[in-house]
Amino acid sequence: MNYRGPFRVRIEEKPMPEILHPNDAIVKVTRACICGSDLHLYHGLVPDTRVGSTFGHEFIGVVVEIGPSVQKLKVGDRVLVPFNISCGQCAFCKQGLYGNCHESNSMATAVGGIFGYSHTAGGYNGGQAEYVRVPYADVGPEIIPENMHQDDAVLLTDVVPTGYQAAEMGGIKTGDTVVVFGAGPIGIMAARCAWLFGATRVIVIDHIEYRLDFVKKYAPCEAYNYKSLGDPVRFIKKITDWFGADVCIDAVGSDASGSLLHTITGKKLLLQAGAATALHWAVNSVKKGGIVSIVGVYGPTDNLVPIGNVVNKGITIRANQTSVKRLLPRLIEHVQNGVIDPKPLITHRIPLQEVSEAYRIFSSKLDNCIKPVLIP
Ligand SMILES: NC(=O)c1ccc[n+]([C@@H]2O[C@H](COP(=O)([O-])OP(=O)(O)OC[C@H]3O[C@@H](n4cnc5c(N)ncnc54)[C@H](O)[C@@H]3O)[C@@H](O)[C@H]2O)c1
Ligand SMILES: [Zn+2]
Ligand SMILES: [Zn+2]
Repeated sequence: MNYRGPFRVRIEEKPMPEILHPNDAIVKVTRACICGSDLHLYHGLVPDTRVGSTFGHEFIGVVVEIGPSVQKLKVGDRVLVPFNISCGQCAFCKQGLYGNCHESNSMATAVGGIFGYSHTAGGYNGGQAEYVRVPYADVGPEIIPENMHQDDAVLLTDVVPTGYQAAEMGGIKTGDTVVVFGAGPIGIMAARCAWLFGATRVIVIDHIEYRLDFVKKYAPCEAYNYKSLGDPVRFIKKITDWFGADVCIDAVGSDASGSLLHTITGKKLLLQAGAATALHWAVNSVKKGGIVSIVGVYGPTDNLVPIGNVVNKGITIRANQTSVKRLLPRLIEHVQNGVIDPKPLITHRIPLQEVSEAYRIFSSKLDNCIKPVLIP
């Protein structure tokens, strides 16, 4: 696919990617999902998203070529590829912070490289394509276990680890009440994973009814439409004896709706790095001393965050891009044992040729879409 500017993507022939470094591999893509993170690119909210780039950081495929130093993979291997590009050697990778690799996006000091995620994340082309170049081939890619369903494998490249890390960063303890903002794939998976850490009550907030219905059964959990709640913060306080939730998870990020002020300043005038509505609600509805876990993505510049409330309530904020590689061994096991069953999230299988229609459906939340996968 080819990005042509906000709200415009199309299919286009491009040169075949080549091995540029001895540790590169070329992967023939068999499935590539569209992510809520791609919508931030598509909506023009991520700086330095260049016309002509190929998105796609959630893909699986078959290795068709390897560079001379690649040891772990051979031609013909079926691999799932974490969305982070990590060197595996730098001080950050060594700590398990594979999303903050210091080498794969060396012009930046925040995020590491990400496939198909603008030049702020290294300018790599992504996997919503027939072929993709995978750097550091000995580090990221995992061979897909024989008995694993392809839909499960592709969801292990981002959605499952991100939902899991959202719950993990929340420091959930036995007996906790957890509120998840956002019932997209990430919020749905975060709600599901919250139980694994000992939550006794899980509440999801969104405004799209079909997604609320899905998460209610899938997680399973309580789910509320914020449009029917009046003030969602007051509602959460009211149902938690006026204490607030122990843990709040922002699984929405910069495309949030629900506040005219944030929509105008964050999404129309671009005076903030997107609309931080869910983040405001999270900070304001967590209890004193609670934890706010942010996996929703924001642009690198400023946001009007209610920092005074963070200080006065003694809140811990934890946030990051997910370290997919760190979590994969545990999560592959969870999927194989049936502890997590990701594939029901995939609602749409769309030929890569119809990528513009796929973005339109997912962006506008049409046709009960939860997660679309593109098939080249
Ligand atoms: N940190 C990471 O590593 C990482 C990885 C993957 C995705 N993400 C981010 O996670 C977020 C969610 O991704 P997704 O694929 O589920 O996206 P999505 O667009 O499918 O879902 C977002 C959901 O949030 C809902 N929403 C909008 N405003 C809201 C509000 N004020 N309160 C509650 N819900 C609201 C929308 O209706 C939608 O259902 C995105 O910001 C994405 O960039 C982060
Ligand atoms: Zn993603
Ligand atoms: Zn590194």
